[in-house]
Amino acid sequence: MRTGRLLLGTNWKMNKTIRESVDYTRRLLGLLDRFDRSDAVQVFVIPPYTAIEAVKRASEGRLWVGAQNMHWAERGAYTGEISALMLQELGVDLVELGHAERRRYFNETDADVNRKVHTALQYGFKPLVCVGEQLEDKRRGIGKETVKNQVRTIFANVETDCAPRLIVAYEPVWAIGAEHADVGIEYVREMQAYIRTSLEEMLGRSAAAMVTVIYGGDVNLRNAATLVSESGTDGLFVGRAAWEAENFAELIRASLKAIG
Ligand code: PGA
Repeated sequence: MRTGRLLLGTNWKMNKTIRESVDYTRRLLGLLDRFDRSDAVQVFVIPPYTAIEAVKRASEGRLWVGAQNMHWAERGAYTGEISALMLQELGVDLVELGHAERRRYFNETDADVNRKVHTALQYGFKPLVCVGEQLEDKRRGIGKETVKNQVRTIFANVETDCAPRLIVAYEPVWAIGAEHADVGIEYVREMQAYIRTSLEEMLGRSAAAMVTVIYGGDVNLRNAATLVSESGTDGLFVGRAAWEAENFAELIRASLKAIG
């Protein structure tokens, strides 16, 4: 991966006021101060839009701060949307695109995500793109084909020199928000390897090797260490288990220990 560091991040979804977000950020930084090897990880948080500016300031440059979505156009008649130009002003480091909840509730497609990826790259952000199969795809034995098709559409016409800025989060949709999804290390390893192969077809072998591929979907304190040490992932993307600063810090500590 690009930084050589383990990438550990959390999407807060539609949670936390500005005050709660700043409090979380300060507590998390305080806890990270106590870890010996905190430079071995790059931590990121993705607050709701309203809290991005405050979190960015509170993070003192030590965390990457992201947005949960973004429109592909710079400006225009798109009521309720937020553009790259607006996010650039807040100093966001990355933009999460194509999360399963965006696809499910807001009908976002791979073609939409492709347009957004191009805009994100143009504005200097790291696009953090979510891909993953539905349970039905897995049952029908077309999980790999599904993620390959997603990768093909989403990264269409992306220049190879952008590869070091690309982050792909492999998130099996059936594991997101599930209790004990029990995805299995071998399964994660296989799917992530397949994503890399799909990226190689798009970008060529050496550029694909520079893309960061992380895992998300029911990541928690019980499975984090095994995931980072045995699945070959470049990092973890966490929801519920990281919504309290103390819990996220514990998960970071366990992951650091696991990579030795
Ligand atoms: P979860 O969410 O960790 O709560 O399963 C993951 C996600 O939505 O990315």
